[in-house]
Amino acid sequence: MLPAADSLAPDWLVVPEDANALAAGVWPASAHRDDAGAIVLGGMPVTEIVREHGTPVLVIDEDEVRARARSFHDAFDAATAAHDGTARVYYAGKAFLSTAVARWVTDEGLNVDVCTRGELEVALAAGVDPGRIGFHGNNKLIGEIERAVSVGVGTIILDSAIEIERTAEIAARLGAVQRVLVRVNSGVHAETHDFLATAHEDQKFGMTFADAETAVARIRELPALEFAGLHCHIGSQIFGVAGFRESADRVLDLHATLRAGGELPILNLGGGFGIAYTSVDDPTPISQLATEIVDAVAAGCAKRGIPLPILSFEPGRAIVGTAGVTLYEVGTTKPVTLDSGASRLYVSVDGGMSDNARTALYGAQFSARIASRTSTATPALARVVGRHCESGDIVVDHEYLPGDVAPGDLMAVPTTGAYCAPLASNYNHVPRPAVVAVSGGVARVIVRGETIEDLLARDAGISDNEGAR
Ligand code: LLP
Repeated sequence: MLPAADSLAPDWLVVPEDANALAAGVWPASAHRDDAGAIVLGGMPVTEIVREHGTPVLVIDEDEVRARARSFHDAFDAATAAHDGTARVYYAGKAFLSTAVARWVTDEGLNVDVCTRGELEVALAAGVDPGRIGFHGNNKLIGEIERAVSVGVGTIILDSAIEIERTAEIAARLGAVQRVLVRVNSGVHAETHDFLATAHEDQKFGMTFADAETAVARIRELPALEFAGLHCHIGSQIFGVAGFRESADRVLDLHATLRAGGELPILNLGGGFGIAYTSVDDPTPISQLATEIVDAVAAGCAKRGIPLPILSFEPGRAIVGTAGVTLYEVGTTKPVTLDSGASRLYVSVDGGMSDNARTALYGAQFSARIASRTSTATPALARVVGRHCESGDIVVDHEYLPGDVAPGDLMAVPTTGAYCAPLASNYNHVPRPAVVAVSGGVARVIVRGETIEDLLARDAGISDNEGAR
C-alpha cells in the first residue's frame, strides 16, 4: 500500500501489511511472538525481561552473536582456503564490548580488535589471549602503548610517523619486539555517511601511500618493531563488495612494492560490513561477501605474481548489530498535525538519544514494533522520540505503528546491538541502561544499569555539602 500523497513518510517507507510483523534480517533469528502477542527474544518474552530488569534495557541475543561470529569465521576461512590461504577475523570491540561478548566471539574462533586502554582491559579481563588482540587508534596514549606492549598484544596498527618512534622506544625499553601493521588510506570513499567513511583523503586515519613507504622503511630499521603488513579500513555500514575490492586492489599495489624490502605476511582489510536496519535494507550475505572479496584479492595477487598474504578482517556491527533489541516503555503519545494537514504520531519512550545517539548523530534509520502485544489498529505514521530536552532526540525517525499505541506499551527497537551502548551518554543525568543477554529462555545481566547514585557519586560538590552540614 502506498502512503497518502501528503504523507510525511519518506519514499522508502512502505505502509506495512501487518504492523506487528518482525522483518526477517532486522531482528535476531530467535525473535517471534508468543500466543499473547509478546515478542520473544532468545526464548524470553519481553514482558518477563522487563518485569525483571525494567526499561529501558538493551537485550542481546547471545546465540545471534555467536552464530554471526561463527559465520564470519567460517565464510572467510572457506573463501581463503579455496586459494590455499588463511584468514583471521577480528571482532571490532568498539561496536559493543563486554567480557561476555569477548568470550562469545573468541569461543567462536574470532580474535578481538580494540582501540583504547579501556577496550583492551575488557578483552584482557575476559581472558582473551593477548596474542589474539589487535590494537588500533590514531592517537594511542603512551600509557596505552606501554600496557599493550607489556601484555604482549599480537599486533599494534600504527597510524603515524610519530607513533612509529613512540612504539619502538617503548618496545625497546620493555625489551620486546612488537609486531606492527601500518594503516594506509586507500583513497576509496565508501558510499556511507561521511562520518562513517574513513579512507577518503582528507581525514585523520591512516597514511598516504607515499608516507607509508617512508614509514615502512623506518620500521624495518628499528629492531624493536617487526613489520607484518598493511591495514586499510574504508568505512562502516557498507553494502556490496565494490568498495572493498577497489580498496584492496589499490593497497595490493603498495603491498607488492614493499615486498622488495622484505616479507609482508599479513594484509588487513578492516571491517565495515553493513546490516539491515529496516526491511528495505538488503545487505550482501556474509558467505558471498567473503568469497567475492577474497577471490578479488587472490586474483590481484596472481596478477602481480605475489603470494596471497594472510587476510584479516574486522567486522563489528555485522556481528552484534542485529543481536541487540532495545526495550522501552511508552510514556505519552501525541498526534501532531501540520498546517498542510499532514500528521504524525509522536510516541515518547523512557530512553532516547542517551541510549541511542545514532539517529541524532548520523541520521540513522531504525524500525520499531509494539513489543508487549499485537494490534489490528490501522497503522499510523509515527516517530519514536526520547525524553531528553532536545527536539533532535529521535530514536526512530519514520515507522508505521498500530494507531492505538498507548502509554504502558513496550516498544522494541531492533538492530541496536552495535554502537548504541558504546555511544551512550548521561545527557540530562539519565542513567545508562543495563545490557541483558538472552539465550535458551534465560536472561542475565552482562552490564549492569547505572543508578542515580552512580551519577551523583561523581559529583564532588555533594560530599563538600555533606562536610559543610
Ligand atoms: N576496523 C576499524 C579500523 C574501524 O575503525 C572500525 C569502525 C571497524 C573495524 C568496525 O567497523 P564495522 O564492521 O563495525 O562497520 N559509530 C558509528 C560507526 C563507527 C565505526 C568506526 N570504526 C555508527 O554508529 O555507525
